Amino acid sequence: MESAPATRSRRRLNSLAALVMGVVLAAGAALLAASCGSRSSAKHLVGFSQCNLGEPWRVAMNAEVAARAKDFPELEIVFADAQQDNAKQVADVESFLRQRVDLLMISPNEAKPLTPIVERVFKAGIPVIVIDRGIEGESYTTFIGADNYQIGHRAGEHIAEITGGKGVIVEIRGLPGSPPAVDRARGMHDAIAGYPRLQIIHSPVANWLREEAMSQMEMALAAHPHIDVVYAHNDPMAIGAYLAAKAKGREKEMRFIGIDGLPGLDGGRQAVADGRLDATFVYPTGGREAVDLAVRILKGEKVPHRVVLQTEKIARPAL
Ligand code: FRU
Repeated sequence: MESAPATRSRRRLNSLAALVMGVVLAAGAALLAASCGSRSSAKHLVGFSQCNLGEPWRVAMNAEVAARAKDFPELEIVFADAQQDNAKQVADVESFLRQRVDLLMISPNEAKPLTPIVERVFKAGIPVIVIDRGIEGESYTTFIGADNYQIGHRAGEHIAEITGGKGVIVEIRGLPGSPPAVDRARGMHDAIAGYPRLQIIHSPVANWLREEAMSQMEMALAAHPHIDVVYAHNDPMAIGAYLAAKAKGREKEMRFIGIDGLPGLDGGRQAVADGRLDATFVYPTGGREAVDLAVRILKGEKVPHRVVLQTEKIARPAL
C-alpha cells in the first residue's frame, strides 16, 4: 500500500503526463495540418498565382475571380501576388505545391521563366489553368484569354482607317517576355504592312506601365517634331503617353490607341469617352470564366485546351 501523499504525487504525475501527452498530440496534429496546408476537407483548394497587382486590369481580374468563387462554396481559393517578379512567382507556385492545391490557376509574368514550374505542377497530375499570358509548350490543362494577334491586327486596321493610310506611328510596347506584347506587335505590323506610307518611327518598351510610358514618350516627343498616332499595348501606357504629350502641349497633334477597355473612371472606356484616347480594345480578364473552368475540371469534366474570349473595339465616332 502506498501512503496517501505518495498516491497524491503519483496522481499529479499521471495528470501531468496526460497533459504533456495532450500537448504533444495537439502540436503533432497542428504540424501535420500545416504540412498538408491547413484546409477543410470539404473544399477543393485552388491556388491562384497572379503576376502582379500593381495594374488596374489585374486588380479587376482578382475581383472577378473572388466574386465568382462565392457562387461555389466548395471552392477555397488562395491568392498570391508575384509583384512582377518571375522568381517570386515561381516561389509562389512552389508554395502552392507544398499546400497540395487541387488545381492551379496562373497568369504568368513572363513565359520562359515560368514554364518549368508550370510543367512540374501539371506533370504531378495537378490541373493547370493558364490565364491571359501564355507559357511555352503545352503542359497545362487549358489556356484562357483573348486573341492578342487579332487585337493587334484590328488596331493596325483602325490606324490605317483614321490616318488614310499615311502617317508616323510611335508604338509603346509591353513587357517583351510576355506573349501579349509580342502578339499585339505582330498583329499590328501585319495589318499595316499593306500601307507603305504608314511608318513606325519609334518603338520603346514600357513594360505595361503608365509611368514608364510617360518617360519613353517624353523621349519620343523630343526626337520627333511630328507624330500622328501612338499605339500602346495597353491603356495605362496609352494614357501615360497622352499625359506626356499634354505636358508639352502636343496632345491634339496625335491620336492615342490602347488596349484593355476597363470600365470605371480610370479605365480606357472613359478615356475614349472624354477624348483622351481615340480607341481601345476590350481585353476581358477571364477571371469569371477561369473559375467556371476550374469547377468543371474539378468535377472531372473534359474542357477545351484553349478558350478564346471575345474582344470589342471602342472608338470615338469619326469627327
Ligand atoms: C496587366 C496587363 C494588361 C494587359 C495584360 C497583358 O498586367 O498589362 O494591361 O492587357 O497585362 O497581359
